[in-house]
Amino acid sequence: MNTSRSLLLGLTLLTAGVLVGCSGATKDTDVVLVDKESNGYKTFQNSCAGCHGQNLEGRAGPNLQHIGMKLDADKLTKQIQNGGPGMPAFANKLDQTQISELAAWLAKQQ
Ligand code: HEC
Repeated sequence: MNTSRSLLLGLTLLTAGVLVGCSGATKDTDVVLVDKESNGYKTFQNSCAGCHGQNLEGRAGPNLQHIGMKLDADKLTKQIQNGGPGMPAFANKLDQTQISELAAWLAKQQ
């Protein structure tokens, strides 16, 4: 094997190593939350982050980072109002505006 070939091989291996190193699964902390200025985001931090995590990464409650792909704003509204197994109902804790802002914000988290 001549020098330039082994150099090329070395470069190829190096590149492959870098690519593998960077292509790991997305970490929870890497997920970018959409629209952090919205009221929905603020309500989430006040009422939901204790169970679902400040970055939606999940704690006692499930990860919600891609919840907008699973539930639309209507279904999110119902979940917030009624709660579920292990999740309190928020129908009497948040007003209608807060609930719809929150549902709209979560629906954007794809
Ligand atoms: C006391 C902990 C707790 C709090 C507070 C809480 N949740 Fe939950 N949440 C859960 C648990 C546990 C589940 C799983 C059971 C279920 O689906 O109902 C859940 C489920 C959900 C789901 C359905 C997830 C799915 O994949 O189907 C959504 C959406 C959700 N929560 C949104 C919220 C929002 C928005 C708030 C704030 C208003 C909130 N949660 C507050 C514990 C909590």
